[in-house]
Formats: sequence, C-alpha cells, structure tokens
Amino acid sequence: MSYKIESFFSKDLPSPAKKYEGLVKHNFVGGHNSEENIPVDKLAESAKYVINQQGNNLALYGHKSGPQGNTSLREFLVSYLKDYVGMNISIDNILLTSGSLQALDLINELILNKGDTVLVEEATYGGAISRVESMKVNHVGVKLDNEGIVIENLVEILEKLKSQNIFPKFLYTIPTVQNPTATIMPNERRKKILEVAEKYNFLIFEDDCYADLTWDRKRPKAIFSMSENDRVIYCGSFSKSIAPALRVGFIVASWPVISQILSFKNDGGSGAIEQMLLADFCKKYYLDHTSKLVKDLQSKCDVMIESLESEFGSIAEYEYPKGGIFLWITLPENINTDRLYELASNHHITINPGSEWVSNPEAGRHKLRLCFAHPSKEVIREGIQNLAKICYEEFGIPKISGNVER
Ligand SMILES: Cc1ncc(COP(=O)(O)O)c(C=O)c1O
Repeated sequence: MSYKIESFFSKDLPSPAKKYEGLVKHNFVGGHNSEENIPVDKLAESAKYVINQQGNNLALYGHKSGPQGNTSLREFLVSYLKDYVGMNISIDNILLTSGSLQALDLINELILNKGDTVLVEEATYGGAISRVESMKVNHVGVKLDNEGIVIENLVEILEKLKSQNIFPKFLYTIPTVQNPTATIMPNERRKKILEVAEKYNFLIFEDDCYADLTWDRKRPKAIFSMSENDRVIYCGSFSKSIAPALRVGFIVASWPVISQILSFKNDGGSGAIEQMLLADFCKKYYLDHTSKLVKDLQSKCDVMIESLESEFGSIAEYEYPKGGIFLWITLPENINTDRLYELASNHHITINPGSEWVSNPEAGRHKLRLCFAHPSKEVIREGIQNLAKICYEEFGIPKISGNVER
C-alpha cells in the first residue's frame, strides 16, 4: 500500500510552503529593513552587556520576568509610550509577543469565533485579512481617504449590518502610518471613531506597528490613550523600527485582556535574549536610532517617487506617504497587478499586488504596494525601470493625458 504522511494531516490546511530560495534582487515586498540600517555595533554592545549581566536568568522559563516578558523592556515601553503616544499604563498592561503577528493571533483568538464579523480598513495589512479568513470570520472594508477611515461610511456600514442583525466584534485599524496607504489619522477622527464604537458597541483593535516611522517623529495620540473605558486593544512592534528578525512585538491592554490571553499563550514565553537586548539598546539609543532611520527611509521614498515619475509618469497615482516603508500606487484600470506580479516575478522583481491588500480583492486589481526600505537607491531605480518595461510590454502604454513619453 502506498504511504503518504500527508494523509494524516488535518483538514482545511493552506497550501504547503515553497522551499526558500533567497530574496530576489529587486525586492519591493514585505516589511524588510535594509542591512545598513541595522545598528549592529550597538546591538552587539547591548547583547554582550545583557548576557554578561543577566545570562544566568536564561535558566528559567520567563527569565525571572514572568510570562508577560522582560520587565526592563516593559519598563522602557511604559515610559516611551507615555512620552510619545500619550499612554498612561503600567508594566502589567504589556504582554511581549513573538512579533506583532503573534499579538494579532492572540487578540483574534481572544475575541473571535467562526462566523463573526469584523470591520477593517478597505485597504489593510494582508496578514490581518488572511488571519481572520482562516478563522472563517467575515470582514467588511470601510472606506479610507487621506486621513484614514471615513466616519460616514463606517456608520453607514454599521447601520446596514445592524439591519441584518450583524454586530461586528471589532474594528481593526492602523491609524498611524496606515499599511498600505501611509496616511495618519488626525486626533479628531480618532475621537469620532471612539464615539462610534461606544454607540454601536464594538472594540477597536489598534495596530501601531509603523507609528515610530513618521517623517518628523511626531504623531497624534493613540486611540488607546483616548479611551476612558477599555474599548481599545493595542499592539506594536520593534520589527519596523529596529529589525523584523528580532521577532519582538507587544500588546497593550487592560488587565482583564492580558490575564485572559495569558491563560492560552502557552508557548513557554517569547524569546528572552532579544527582549533583554532590546531593553538595554532602547533605553540608550532608541530615539537617536529611529530619528536616523526615518531620514534614510524618507530619502529612499523620494528616490522611488522620482523613479516612478520618470518611468510611469502620471499613470502611477499615489499620495506622498507621511512615514513608513511603502508606497500604495494606483495604475490605470487595464493594468491587472496580479498579472504584473507574475510577470515581474519571472524577471526577479517582487511586488505586492493590490488584491492581497484590500478587503474586496476586486478593488485592488490595479493597485500595488511597493516597499522602499529594503532595496538600495540604485536597486530602486533599476527595479522601477525594469518594472515599467515589463508593464508596458504586457499592457501597452495607456492613453492618458500627461502620459510618460517613451
Ligand atoms: C500592520 C502590520 N501589523 C503587524 C505586522 C507584523 O509584524 P511583526 O510580526 O514583524 O511585528 C505587520 C508586518 O508587516 C504589519 O504591516
């Protein structure tokens, strides 16, 4: 009898992963940082220091800090989030996680059941959409403009859902440097969203993963800080501000939320060495490091925009980002970015087609997201030039006034 181990696997698993073949040269996907922007010397100094000082704590699960993660890093976060984000919390309100992806999983597990409905921004983080979909949770996209969620549309959707007896559990939002649109929601709108959440009785799940990457290092208060009655669960990450491979993120929430999550976060704790290292590094260097980082990111963003202007002209439309690592681009309707993605991949260029980054895939068919953090300026120029060539070969040069001449 022929034997296949796959016959024992549980049902409804996603397709198996492909073998890792390394990154392509023109890599405009994901949220990678560039190697030059990793503060290697300072991280090495902190690593040596903390291992010498506290290495023995590694003998214990929880490294003498307990299941919520490194006390010293949580202390840093308490003071940083107070000064920068307007939060008034204690270390008991913080749970360190293995990247903010684990935060997403834990919060979803805490709140959602199969068949529930959540609200998301019409364009949002693909990893958030795929997560709720894998839980068989419905998502409804709320319109965005250049200041984030459009309140009138949010209310319209809530009324429509109510008439169908559907009451969303939460609104997942990335209000500060939104992924993928890179807008920042102003204070006034944050307050209104809270009012709507009160009125229609849903939670707000605030993902602030890019919030430290505003060009001027200023930002509105977190929605979490504005809520007086425990309506917001917040998550953040060190992935974009320092390094994604560290895998350190965090949840900020009230004790009922944290204590309930602790009851099922039974992974023995998230990695301790990176938390110890970050605690030392951040206390000494976080502000200087992020100020330097955003300057480099903005200059790369400008290079990507220059390249798009010279290669795509007015057919590529975008808002100038307020920070972050992405450009969210709309191309003419005849350009299907799923097809462009396939063609570009054959030429070692990776892009994120818009359909993966929207609640309604049809709405993303002629959009794409490009990350400018990882490639060098030279690679950005070359990659955009090659991408334009591939695009024109397949789709022709769209007839639009002010079009690029070639
Ligand atoms: C909005 C948002 N949230 C969460 C994550 C997950 O990041 P990490 O797990 O590296 O913290 C990402 C990654 O790109 C993201 O864009």
